[in-house]
Amino acid sequence: MYRTKTCGELRASDVNQLVTLAGWVQKTRKMGGMAFVDLRDRYGVTQLVFNQDVDASLCERANKLGREYVVQATGTVKERSNKNLHIPTGEIELIVSELTILNAAATPPFTIEDETDGGDDLRMKYRYLDLRRNVVRSNLELRHKMTIEVRRYMDSQQFIEVETPVLVSSTPEGARDFVVPSRMNPGQFYALPQSPQTLKQLLMVSGFDRYFQIVKCFRDEDLRADRQPEFTQIDCEMSFVEQDDILTMFEGLSKYLFKTIRGVEINEPFRRISWNDAMKYYGSDKPDLRFDMRFVELDDVLKGHGFSVFDNAAYVGGICAKGAASYTRKQLDALTDFVKRPQIGAKGMVYARVEEDGIKSSVDKFYTQETLQEMKKAFGAEPGDLILILSGDDVTKTRKQLCELRLEMGSQLGLRDKNKFVCLWVVDFPLLEWSEEDRRYYAMHHPFTSPKPEDIHLLDSNPGDVRANAYDMVVNGVEVGGGSIRIHDNELQQKMFRLLGFAAEQAEAQFGFLMNAFKYGAPPHGGIAYGLDRWVSLFAGLDSIRDCIAFPKNNSGRDVMLDAPSAIAQAQLDELRIAVNIPPVC
Ligand code: AMO
Repeated sequence: MYRTKTCGELRASDVNQLVTLAGWVQKTRKMGGMAFVDLRDRYGVTQLVFNQDVDASLCERANKLGREYVVQATGTVKERSNKNLHIPTGEIELIVSELTILNAAATPPFTIEDETDGGDDLRMKYRYLDLRRNVVRSNLELRHKMTIEVRRYMDSQQFIEVETPVLVSSTPEGARDFVVPSRMNPGQFYALPQSPQTLKQLLMVSGFDRYFQIVKCFRDEDLRADRQPEFTQIDCEMSFVEQDDILTMFEGLSKYLFKTIRGVEINEPFRRISWNDAMKYYGSDKPDLRFDMRFVELDDVLKGHGFSVFDNAAYVGGICAKGAASYTRKQLDALTDFVKRPQIGAKGMVYARVEEDGIKSSVDKFYTQETLQEMKKAFGAEPGDLILILSGDDVTKTRKQLCELRLEMGSQLGLRDKNKFVCLWVVDFPLLEWSEEDRRYYAMHHPFTSPKPEDIHLLDSNPGDVRANAYDMVVNGVEVGGGSIRIHDNELQQKMFRLLGFAAEQAEAQFGFLMNAFKYGAPPHGGIAYGLDRWVSLFAGLDSIRDCIAFPKNNSGRDVMLDAPSAIAQAQLDELRIAVNIPPVC
C-alpha cells in the first residue's frame, strides 16, 4: 500500500497512530536541527517532521527534497506544539521514520500556491501543474458535484440521459461549424454539433418523452470570457409540454442546484420579463437585476430646449445612480471616457447631480430648473442621486451603451455582489431578426422555434413582429440557458424555412431527415439547454469560464499545452485527399 491515510484527514484524534502518507512536497523548511516538509495531495496538506538528533541521515535527505518531489512518508502522528488553525490538519504533525522518494521533480515554472506567480499563458502551458492548485481544483470539484446533482434531479423527474453522436452534419445555432474530413468518403465532411438540437427533437419523435444529456458542443465563434469553442451543455427536451411546463420544471432544477450546491434557498418564483421590456429598461436581453437602476426615456422631457445633441437624437435616456451625487468631476470625466471607449462608442455623457438646493447639470445653460425637476420626477430621484444621460441616433445602439454604463455604475457602487443571485426568465423573444447587411431574416433562436400561436397570422404580413415561444434563463446578467417550444407541424416548419430564405431543395438537403420524421407522428415538444461552464463559474464566482474547465482553449482558440491546432503530416492530408493552399502556420 502506498498510503494508509491522505494528507487531509489526520486530526488530534489520530495521535500516536503509525501511518503512511504519499504526496507532493509543497515546501521544506530547515530550523535548527529539524526539517519540516509540507506534504500535499488532493485532500490537503500535512506537516512532516524530521529530527537530526533522532536520525541525522533521514533529516539530511528531507532537507534535500525539492519542490513537487513525489514522496512516501511513514511515521507517528503527534500533537503539534504550535498549532496551525488555518488548515484542518493543523493540530497534528507526522514524526517521520521512513522516507521514500517515489519521483524527483524539476523545479516547476511557477509556484503551486493559491496566489501563484505564474501568468495566464504559463499556467495554461503547464495546466497539469496549475490543476494542482487548490483554487483550480476546487472549481473542478464543484463542477463534478454539479453534474452529479443535475443527474440526480433529472433522474428523479424521469428524464433519460441519451448520448448523441459527435460526428454529425451541420446544426444551425448561429455559429460556424467545426468540420472533420471523412477518409472513407473523400471530399466529404462531418460537422461537430453546435448542439444536439435536431437529434433531441428526433428522440421526442421516438417517444422518449423526457431526455437530457450533459454534452460537449462545438462552435467556431469569436471567444470571450463566457465563450469557449468547445463547451458543455445540460441539454434537455420534453414532450407534450407548453412553455409554462418547461419553465416550471427547470426553475425546479435551478432552485435544487442553488440549494444543494450553494446552500441558497430560493422560495419565490423567478421573475419573468419580456424581451421588449428587457431591452427598453436595461438595454440587454440578459439584464443583471441584482440592482434596478432601470432606464428612463427622456425624449419628451429633454428634447426641444435648444440642446442640439438631444434635439437631433433618436433616443435620449438615462439612469439614476442612488447616492452617487458625490461623484467628483474627475470621476465623471472617467465615466465619460468609459462610454466613449471604441468598444462602447458613445459620443459623450451628460450628468446631473440632484442636490438639496436644486439640480446641477453639465448642460445647465439649456435647461431651466423646472425642466430639470421634471426630469428628476421621471426618475423618482432624491437629493444625493446622480443622473447620467446618453443620447444617440440609433435606439438599439444607444440602449446598449447605456447598458454598459449601468453595469459599470453597478460595479462602482458595489451592487454586483458575487454572493447574491438574482434569477429571471426573459420571455417573448422576437422570432426573427432582420439583417440589414444580408437583407434577410435570421432566426433569433434557431429555425425550429415555434412562433406564438396568437402571432402566426403575422408571419406573412409582418414577420418582424412575430414573437416566439422562446425563453432564456438569466442569472446576474449571465445567460445560463435558453430554449423554446418547437414547431412540430411540417407545414409550419416549411414556411419557417421559406421565411429564412432557404430554397426548398436546400431545406430538404439540410433538414430533410427532420421533416421526414415529422411525417411519422411528432408530439408537441420543447426544451432548453444550460451552459454548464457558465453555471459553474457563476457558482464559483469566477470571471471566466476557462477556470472551471480542466483543459481550456485560449482566446485564439488554441490549446497551448497540446499545441493544437497544428499542421498535420502530408501523408495524412493525402489519405484524406485534402490539399492545403496556404503555408502551414507554425
Ligand atoms: P443556445 O445557443 O442558447 O441554445 O445555447 C444554450 C446555452 O449554452 C451556453 N453557450 C455557451 N457556453 C460557453 N461557450 C459557448 N460558446 C456557448 N454557446 C452557448 C449558454 C447558452 O444559454 N439548442 C439550443 C437550446 C434549445 O433550444 O433547447 C441551444 O443550443 O449558456
